[in-house]
Amino acid sequence: MKKLIVAALMAVLILPCMAQVTKLEVSAVKKEGPSSIELPKPNMKGGLPLYDALSNRQTQRKFSPKPLDEQQLSDMLWCAGGVNRPDGKLTSPTARNAQEIDIIVFMEKGAYLYLPKENMLKMLLPEDHRAEMSQYSKMPVEAPVTLLFFANYEKMDGFDEQARDFYGATDAGFVSQNVYLYCAANKLSTVVMGAIDRERLSELIPIKGKPILAQPVGYPAK
Ligand SMILES: Cc1cc2nc3c(=O)[nH]c(=O)nc-3n(C[C@H](O)[C@H](O)[C@H](O)COP(=O)(O)O)c2cc1C
Repeated sequence: MKKLIVAALMAVLILPCMAQVTKLEVSAVKKEGPSSIELPKPNMKGGLPLYDALSNRQTQRKFSPKPLDEQQLSDMLWCAGGVNRPDGKLTSPTARNAQEIDIIVFMEKGAYLYLPKENMLKMLLPEDHRAEMSQYSKMPVEAPVTLLFFANYEKMDGFDEQARDFYGATDAGFVSQNVYLYCAANKLSTVVMGAIDRERLSELIPIKGKPILAQPVGYPAK
C-alpha cells in the first residue's frame, strides 16, 4: 500500500515536469525554420503603375504581426534585388555590378540569406534574432519580417576602404527604395532604419562586411 502511495505521489509530482520539458523542447524546435526555403516564382508583371506607387510611397512605423506569405516574400525580394535580365543583373543597380548587397531576411524562424539567382532563402542563423537588430527601436520585432542590407566585402575586391563604405551605403539605398515601392504598391507598412546595432549584427552575421540599413515590413497595424 505504502509503495502504491509513493508511486502515485511520484506520478503526480514528476509527470507534469516531464510534460513541461517535452513542451519546451517542442516549442524550441518549432521556432527554428528549415535550412533553406525555395521561393515561388516572383510575379514580375502588373502591379501598381509607377506614378501611383511613387505617390503612395511613405514611411509607416506601425506593424501587425500577421506573417507575410512566401509569394509576398518572393515578390518583395525580387523587387529589392532579384535577377531581371538574362545576364544575371539585378533590379537594383550596384557600383561596378559588384552585386555586393546581401539581403538577409530576419523572421521568427531564423535569419535567411536571399539568393537571387536561385530564388531561394538559405538559413544563416537559426531562431529569432530580430530583437538584436536595434537597441533603439522595437520595430524590427513588431514587424513579421525585417530585411537587413549587408555590404558583403568578399564581393568588393578592388574597392578601397573608402569606396567600400561609400558604395555599400549608396547601393543599399537603391535596394531600400525598391522595397518602399513594393510596399507602396501592396499596401504594406515599412520603414528604413539607420538606427541599428551594427556591432552586434557584425558579430552575428557569418560574412565579412558591414550591416548598412534594416527595413521592417508588414501589414499596417489596425
Ligand atoms: C538612411 C535613412 C535612415 C533612416 N533611419 C531611420 C530610423 O532609424 N528610424 C526611423 O524611424 N526612421 C528612419 N528613417 C526614415 C525617415 O525618418 C523618413 O524617411 C523621413 O521621416 C521621411 O518620411 P517618408 O519616408 O515618409 O517620406 C530613415 C531614412 C533614411 C533615408
